[in-house]
Amino acid sequence: MNILVTGGCGFIGSNFIYYLFEHYSDVKVINLDKLTYAGNLKNLVPIEKKYGDKRYFFIRGCIADRELVPQILKKFQIDAVINFAAESHVDRSINDPAPFITTNINGTQNLLEASRQAGIKRFIQVSTDEVYGSLGPEGLFSEETPLAPNSPYSASKAAADLLARAYYKTYGFPVIITRCSNNYGPFQFPEKLIPLAFLKARQDEPIPIYGDGQNVRDWIYVLDHCQGVDLALQKGEIGRVYNFGGNAEKPNLEVVKAILDFLGKPHTLLKFVQDRPGHDRRYAMDFSLASRELGFKPSVDFKKGLELTLNWYLKHQDWISEVQSGEYQNFMRNWYKDRT
Ligand code: NAD
Ligand code: DAU
Repeated sequence: MNILVTGGCGFIGSNFIYYLFEHYSDVKVINLDKLTYAGNLKNLVPIEKKYGDKRYFFIRGCIADRELVPQILKKFQIDAVINFAAESHVDRSINDPAPFITTNINGTQNLLEASRQAGIKRFIQVSTDEVYGSLGPEGLFSEETPLAPNSPYSASKAAADLLARAYYKTYGFPVIITRCSNNYGPFQFPEKLIPLAFLKARQDEPIPIYGDGQNVRDWIYVLDHCQGVDLALQKGEIGRVYNFGGNAEKPNLEVVKAILDFLGKPHTLLKFVQDRPGHDRRYAMDFSLASRELGFKPSVDFKKGLELTLNWYLKHQDWISEVQSGEYQNFMRNWYKDRT
């Protein structure tokens, strides 16, 4: 099978490419990535060395490029497209929504259209629980929960989901949408809570906690998400939405305290700062449909997953230093300056 993976140099995309090569001996992977601040070619050096120009091909480019995408689909005789490419950070979408519209909406529409024209057999739109909005203290998001996105990021992802749905309804195009909760694991960019807390704690710097720190996320180890996307690719019913979650609801404060305890750092490093505007209070997923129809089951519990993740960051401090570009430093300085 020839698979176009978009955004393969980002956090989940990189993990997914490793997952594919570990589980299949007959796949060819074409990775289309724009290499934004969040994309890192070095994530895939072992794959490039082992499979480069045989079963793995990297192309630097944008999913919104109307000439490039059809060329790739044709040249590599792509069977399936997995769309991970996105602007993915909520805080950045609050600062500057425009790139979220260009990539997450226009880019997805371009991929859908080119894939439809090329007769692609399967298209997985990788989406998020954030499209459902926010929960109170009780209840779970199901695939039937109405979409109610609260940030420019989640609104752009919801728009992409609706376009994917429309391509299925209007053209019978074989799309499947997957919606997953918060991922953590190797290669996550240090603007997101877990790697950011690790980085700050290691440097004995204060860790910013938005609001009262009681916002809840359902954490899933990234390889469990990869397993879910692969199951959707292999067995999913076209036109369906599948939720994935980790069965690990945690308030942010508990997550950051666990990181400090693991590193033997004091809780005095916690610093409560101004809340994120429109901050969703709680996410929690009902993924019984994916369990029933696909056999999806998260296999790494939060304690084990956090240990694996923090040990990976401890071993790859060169990686975390290298990704801290000038652009990253600027964003972090400006964003947190306004909040403290
Ligand atoms: P990421 O920010 O780490 O990586 C995004 C990748 O996409 C980068 O390599 C970047 O260079 C690439 N990219 C950005 N714009 C592009 C464009 N126009 N054309 C081609 N490539 C482009 O993101 P992530 O955390 O790995 O998320 C991947 C996908 O999974 C996203 O669609 C996100 O919405 C979804 N998702 C993420 C999570 C999570 O917890 N991180 C949870 C659920 C769903
Ligand atoms: O739920 C899935 C989503 O998870 C994905 O769709 C997004 O792409 C991904 O970025 C993630 O979004 P969150 O906003 O939940 O992740 P983030 O790591 O930014 O924040 C996690 C929680 O921690 C959230 O409640 C905000 C809080 N937080 C975050 C940062 C960066 C803090 O308290 N302090 C911080 O400095």
